[in-house]
Amino acid sequence: MTAARERPAGHEQARLYVPEVATIVRARDLTPRDKVFVIELPGRRNLGHMPGQFVQVSVFGYGEAPISVCSPPEKQGAFDLCVRNLGSVTGALHALDAGDKVGIRGPFGRGFPIDSMKHMDVLIVAGGIGLAPLRSIIDSVFLNRDEYGRLVVLYGTGTPEDILFPAELEAWQLEEGNEILVTVDEGGPDWAGNVGVITTLFSEVDIDPVNTVVAALVGPPVMYRFVLMELEGLGIPEDQIFFSLERRMKCGVGKCGHCQVEDLYVCMDGPVFSGGQIKKLHESI
Ligand SMILES: Cc1cc2nc3c(=O)[nH]c(=O)nc-3n(C[C@H](O)[C@H](O)[C@H](O)COP(=O)(O)OP(=O)(O)OC[C@H]3O[C@@H](n4cnc5c(N)ncnc54)[C@H](O)[C@@H]3O)c2cc1C
Ligand code: FES
Repeated sequence: MTAARERPAGHEQARLYVPEVATIVRARDLTPRDKVFVIELPGRRNLGHMPGQFVQVSVFGYGEAPISVCSPPEKQGAFDLCVRNLGSVTGALHALDAGDKVGIRGPFGRGFPIDSMKHMDVLIVAGGIGLAPLRSIIDSVFLNRDEYGRLVVLYGTGTPEDILFPAELEAWQLEEGNEILVTVDEGGPDWAGNVGVITTLFSEVDIDPVNTVVAALVGPPVMYRFVLMELEGLGIPEDQIFFSLERRMKCGVGKCGHCQVEDLYVCMDGPVFSGGQIKKLHESI
């Protein structure tokens, strides 16, 4: 099952191990604990990522954290990261602002197979902060709209205050051929939308299983099992389903073993895996 692990040669190797000093050119609060950073590499060089890939971000004096790129590959001269303040590195990153410097290694890992999604309907299933990496695909679909079929986004999060990119969700919904469904675990008096876990949204959409490719990042491992059951219930073949996994990481380049799940390194063999791979990785779900 393990595909050959390829490494770049020569000076490209250095980018695996040595952080490049990059500049935060914009930082904005999305929610009380989530912030979006726009980052420029020296010379405004493009990062050259695929949706689903991640970078190792270092905050000098604190350490490194793996963060997915949340802008599409088509964005020129800068890239976006959406970061939840969870601990020491992410907390230190939240204290930074425009003009501050960070270290960047990467991009790392295998992303979503965006080319095989072309001319298909795209179903995005996002739980919580999982919407951030998937925004990279959604925006890429928008920038190449003629090359894809319907776009359906199912997004579940904790409360209405936790909703990421609310203005973008509204804009995505406005375009013909798109369906954006949001649910929250706890609604509150001002919430008129869906309440319940993300799997409650599956019964509200019509999916053509033969013609649909799924990209999902849904939070704790148990959710992957339930989402996979729903997708299989809809008749979507497992080789048209792609999940991104999150594991504790250190090196990001297959050296330290922190991210190992059975015989795979999530940092190099993933973080994106097919439904068939995920089913064999019992530990992952
Ligand atoms: C491939 C990948 C992509 C990611 N993309 C994003 C992203 O786009 N945005 C984002 O905000 N976060 C993302 N994360 C999670 C992020 O890397 C962690 O939140 C971060 O490393 C925490 O570091 P810290 O020093 O701030 O927290 P720590 O002080 O190290 O820990 C704080 C808490 O977070 C928990 N934690 C730490 N790392 C992880 C992890 N990988 N998974 C689950 N729990 C963890 C710890 O157990 C602890 O409870 C991603 C992780 C991976 C592996
Ligand atoms: S993070 Fe070190 S092997 Fe994957």
